[in-house]
Amino acid sequence: MRLTVIGTGYLGAVHAACMAEIGHEVLGVDTDARKIEALAAGRAPFFEPGLPEILVRNIRSGRLRFTMSLQEAADFADLHFVCVGTPQRPGSLSADLSHVEAVVDGLAPLLTRDSLIVGKSTVPVGTTRSLSRRLAAAVRPGVEVQVVWNPEFLREGFAVRDTLHPDRLVVGATTPDGDRLLREVYAPMLQAGVAYVSTDPATAELVKVAANSFLATKISFINAMAEVCDASGADVVTLADALGHDERIGRRFLSAGLGFGGGCLPKDIRAFLARAEELQVSEAVSFLRQVDRINERQRRRTVDLARHLLGGSFAGRRVAVLGATFKPDSDDVRDSPALAVTAEITAQGADVRVHDPEGIDNARAALPGPEYHRDVVEACRDADAVLHLTEWRQYRELDPAQLAQVVRAPRMLDARNALDQAAWHEAGWHVRALGRPVHVPQPGQGEALRVTIPHALGAGCTAPMAGEPVSGVPK
Ligand code: UDX
Repeated sequence: MRLTVIGTGYLGAVHAACMAEIGHEVLGVDTDARKIEALAAGRAPFFEPGLPEILVRNIRSGRLRFTMSLQEAADFADLHFVCVGTPQRPGSLSADLSHVEAVVDGLAPLLTRDSLIVGKSTVPVGTTRSLSRRLAAAVRPGVEVQVVWNPEFLREGFAVRDTLHPDRLVVGATTPDGDRLLREVYAPMLQAGVAYVSTDPATAELVKVAANSFLATKISFINAMAEVCDASGADVVTLADALGHDERIGRRFLSAGLGFGGGCLPKDIRAFLARAEELQVSEAVSFLRQVDRINERQRRRTVDLARHLLGGSFAGRRVAVLGATFKPDSDDVRDSPALAVTAEITAQGADVRVHDPEGIDNARAALPGPEYHRDVVEACRDADAVLHLTEWRQYRELDPAQLAQVVRAPRMLDARNALDQAAWHEAGWHVRALGRPVHVPQPGQGEALRVTIPHALGAGCTAPMAGEPVSGVPK
């Protein structure tokens, strides 16, 4: 089939390449000349494992092209995927739909044949209906254009795999024709047995927002338990493992630590709160405010624990930060918890050296203050403390004994609960983590004995940060 993908960010670039990969003829469209230039040359404008390979392969085969012209898109195909961003509106919790509306407004008068617009962006429930009205007023007489919502559930870092082998496809169409066309688009996946949920547009829109709200709630739940663990001496990692054995609960998204960030979870739960208020059902989702607050608190608790680890002050202390992106296998620093903590400890007087395998350029653009290093050992040299803030695999593979030779003082805060804390302790490190008791070695034995040492985490942890985090977190 011939189709266009409008908006070539993390979602659209991957979708365009994957649609070509399954055999369609695809035209990717964007207003950003640099992005289009890079994509057309087979270069991914952001880090996403596996994307460069399928870009190059499909550009070479002639199935994938890129343009900045909406006119070319209208001429090329009758099926248009909309993948533009729906960021949080500044000064508000709600989603900014201006990019989606601009695509519809721009495309509508150019369409000369009956067409299908397929929304993939995450939008508030009710958007398909309002876009359909907007479209009806803008299309040429005699031309019929239908809007269908087909949310995307891909995770950054696994975007190619998630797009080619999704857990499910959800399609909200208003006519059997719309549904039939989408079944054709996704035929290879349907043949492979991927679940296909055919529904109305409102339900389709809501599935995405509800899924992200559920995931965010799961993370904040375990982070709330981490706070209880800190107050009681229990261990949140063992707690999560034990909870996860219950199949009804499951272990995934129960990793306690610095909390969630990125371009989706934080803004999606806030946009849901805003939309629920418009629908006069704010009481039903008011728990999401708490989910957001718990998540925000993890950033402050991490800063407080780091300060405690350094004896009460950051002033004049050298701190190495491992990780700047909001999660591993991505170069995305949007609403990154790691970068928010980095900004705060810099504001509190620390001399900060940041390492990240892929995110340094984006991090430097968002937060120019700290020194950035491409070499993890250089970032840690003469550090008074090392903060593990994003769980890249290479940090788990560090040799704690070797790194102990490089730092000024072997103090480690594992804010992602991802390191082998006993191994670090055995190599001479003082290791702290959110929701876990302190590890000390048992005399005469290699085994670590866990004891709880009371520390300053408590009322002080909820004190507001001195500086604003990099990306706004609502108070
Ligand atoms: C998310 C959804 O998973 C995806 O389905 C949707 O399409 C877009 O939003 P993504 O933003 O790529 O994907 O990240 P995800 O892997 O969900 O992680 C989100 C954040 O939660 C990260 O900051 C991660 O570090 C954090 N997280 C995740 C935890 O703190 N604990 C966990 O147990 C899991």
